[in-house]
Order: sequence, then structure tokens, then C-alpha cells
Amino acid sequence: MTIDKQHGATFVRQCVGYWIAFAILAVASCAGSLAAADDVPRSGGPYVPTPQAVVDEMLNMARVGPDDFVIDLGSGDGRIVLTAASRYRARGMGVDIDGELVDLSNAEARRQGVDKLVRFQQQDVLQTRISDATVITLYLLPELMHSLRDRIYSQLKPGARVVSHDFSFIEWLPDRTVTLDVTEKYALPGPWQSTVYLWVVPAKVDGRWHATVSGSGNESLMLSFTQKFQQLEGAAVHGGERIALQDGQLEGNRIRFRLRDPAAGGNALREFQGTVNGDTISGKIVSQGGAASWTARRIRTSVQQ
Ligand SMILES: C[S@@+](CC[C@H](N)C(=O)[O-])C[C@H]1O[C@@H](n2cnc3c(N)ncnc32)[C@H](O)[C@@H]1O
Repeated sequence: MTIDKQHGATFVRQCVGYWIAFAILAVASCAGSLAAADDVPRSGGPYVPTPQAVVDEMLNMARVGPDDFVIDLGSGDGRIVLTAASRYRARGMGVDIDGELVDLSNAEARRQGVDKLVRFQQQDVLQTRISDATVITLYLLPELMHSLRDRIYSQLKPGARVVSHDFSFIEWLPDRTVTLDVTEKYALPGPWQSTVYLWVVPAKVDGRWHATVSGSGNESLMLSFTQKFQQLEGAAVHGGERIALQDGQLEGNRIRFRLRDPAAGGNALREFQGTVNGDTISGKIVSQGGAASWTARRIRTSVQQ
């Protein structure tokens, strides 16, 4: 595992803090209804169920619907996937290293009549095939989150949503964060809060693109994008002049950035909005000078082809 120096200290601090918190919560949870087997190698942390109010918020933030395939990595008693199926008719899969929890989840799926929609299997989350998921849910310790991050980012399709209870990724900033009071969270003195993080897997646009602007005469631009997760930087070359991108952002397949408009003079900006579809982008330009549209085609280098 490689973690850059800047984040290393924070990461270690988080892990230590979370392990202590998780251990307390696990004890509280096991003292309750369901005790998980204690001889299972759980690299993602012990079994601690997400409170139902937080499950509801996770599925709400991910906008889960009947077209979704939800995977819960470290599924515990299966409640996230079961709720997605029974409430939203979503298909789903849960994986957990603990076979007893997997059996319990499959039995509960049958009891709720959603066993045609969901299944649970015993597996290490690091071995799980995730590329078909449209939604991934997580409640795992930061170290395992970090191990999963690059696979989730690169293997899920643009637009897939990832929601996590309490633990965030390093460097990949969430698109949305919601903190809620969960008074019933644990049988420990409160007040208790849960944080839910949402990421939308962005299209991959790193590299050079040739753009054409239509509207008032055709204009040709060379765009170069540098992408760090959903954050976008780069520049356009217009008639030999280099213009830096401003406010670049990707959300799933949607791209947005601003460029100073050389034709308008001064600091007038044009906002480019578009939809990425593999090696092409198309969309509109919003500016003081009126509406225009644009398309772009990725320039593949011989190494990429
Ligand atoms: C904090 S519980 C979360 C349970 C459930 N996702 C929820 O939110 O209610 C974490 C679960 O991950 C499982 N787990 C830990 N490490 C794992 C691993 N490497 N592979 C699969 N499951 C793992 C544990 O057995 C436990 O059930």
C-alpha cells in the first residue's frame, strides 16, 4: 500500500482513532442482538451494524432505484442491500468474510421475499468483482477503504455512486457529505452522530482533446485536461494563446469548466458544459455573447491506441 507523506500522518491518526472507536462500538453492538464470530480475519474492522436511519440516508444520497445493482462490501447482517431491494426493488449483492453473517443475510432475504433480487456470499472484499455495481456501500476501516479506492475509481462506470458510513477516502474528496444525529446509534452515552460521504465516479478525461465550437463561425481549440478524481485542471490553446481552465469539475459523465473568452476581451468567461461519452464530448457554452454548442474528440497518442 502506498500513501503519500502528506496524508500519511493523518491516515495513521485516523486509523488509530477509528480502531479504538470501532472496538468500543463493536463491543456495544455484540452486547446487543447479534454477536459475530470472533475468529474471523476482518481486515475491514469488526461487525458493527449501520443504524437504519443511516442506511436510509445512504440509499437516499445514492438515489438508489430499480435499475441499480448495489454491492455492500462487508455486508454484516445484510441490512443495506436488503433495504435497497425491499424498498427500491434494486438488485444487490453483499459480501462478508463472516460466513455466519452471510447465512443470516440470505435467510433474511428469503424471509423478506427478495431473494430473487439479492444474494450474499462469503468473500474477502479485496477479491470481489465490483465492476457491475452502479452503487457501492461501505462501512469499513480507513485502511481497507484505501486499499479499495483505486479499484472503485477505475473499475466502476462513470456515474456510479459510492456511499460510505463514517469513513472517507484519502485524497478523493467526497462530492457530498451529510452528518446526522443518530440518537439510537449505540447503547453508549451520546450525543452520537454519523457522517455519510457520497462520491460519484467521474468519467476519465485526462489528456488532450480537439474541440470545435459552433455558433458564430466555427472555432477550433486544443484542450488539455489534468484530472485528480473529480477535480479538473488544464488549459485551452486558442490561436496560439494558452488560457487556463477555471472551476473545472466532473460529476459522472458531466463535465464543466470556464475559459476566458478572447473574443469578448477583458475577463469575460465562457462556461463549457458537456457530456462525456468515451472519446467524445458534446454540450453547450453559456456566455454573455449568447448560446453556442461544442464538441470535442480525444486525441489518442500512439501509446494509448
Ligand atoms: C462495520 S461492519 C458493517 C456491516 C454493514 N455493511 C453495515 O453497514 O451494517 C463491517 C463488516 O465488514 C466485514 N469485513 C471486515 N473485513 C472484511 C474483509 N476483508 N472482507 C469481507 N468482509 C469484511 C465484517 O465481518 C463486518 O461484518
